[in-house]
Amino acid sequence: MTPDEAKEAAAREALKHVRDGMKLGLGTGSTAAKFVAGLGEMVAQGLNVVCVPTSEATRKQAESLNIPLTRLDEEPILDLTVDGADELDSDLSLIKGGGGALLREKIVASSSRQMIVIADDTKKVDTLGKFALPIEVVPFGVKSTAMKIEHASRWAGCEGPLALRIRDGELFVTDNGNVIIDCAFGQIPDAQKLASALSTIPGVVDHGLFLDMASLAILGGPNGIEIIERKR
Ligand code: 5RP
Repeated sequence: MTPDEAKEAAAREALKHVRDGMKLGLGTGSTAAKFVAGLGEMVAQGLNVVCVPTSEATRKQAESLNIPLTRLDEEPILDLTVDGADELDSDLSLIKGGGGALLREKIVASSSRQMIVIADDTKKVDTLGKFALPIEVVPFGVKSTAMKIEHASRWAGCEGPLALRIRDGELFVTDNGNVIIDCAFGQIPDAQKLASALSTIPGVVDHGLFLDMASLAILGGPNGIEIIERKR
């Protein structure tokens, strides 16, 4: 099974959780795109849902499939968000933001009664941190903000190079007009401590640690589908 097939299998399994009349949050990334594609097929067959996309890329995809969209300001409480992840552990703590959409993803997921994560099983890790943690910061004073991130991270037991995200030779700018600092910590021994420390830094808009948010993970892999439920 290729990673692409594993993502497809996870997305298909997640579609089984969709019910007529639901208000849905639509994630961002290659796995979430497979969910959106499948949802488009269900809508074409008469499924009635209304959705909030977590990025402009997802908005475009959903629009092209005639999936009814709304804004979070119109529907501030959603039934279910389905999104991908860059890493997840057995507690369903996540690193997200590889696609740069972490802020809207977190706002939408935290406005949902349930968040389901879909991924191929290579995303599962014992300890978060191998994937560089994305942190969304405002462009003003980015150097000073980066120094504070470094300091706070060290306090939380994390060390490693920080890099301003560049894509195709250009500074990466998020849908919100911010930039991303990717923190290659290698491992994050206490994600809660790090998340709290990062949240106090002026200039940090949000970070890619999604803790206590997802209640279910659906992972595709060579042995089929693995389901992980959050215990607490
Ligand atoms: C975007 C994200 C994505 O969900 C994450 O990067 C996973 O993407 P993919 O499904 O392409 O591996 O957080 O900001």
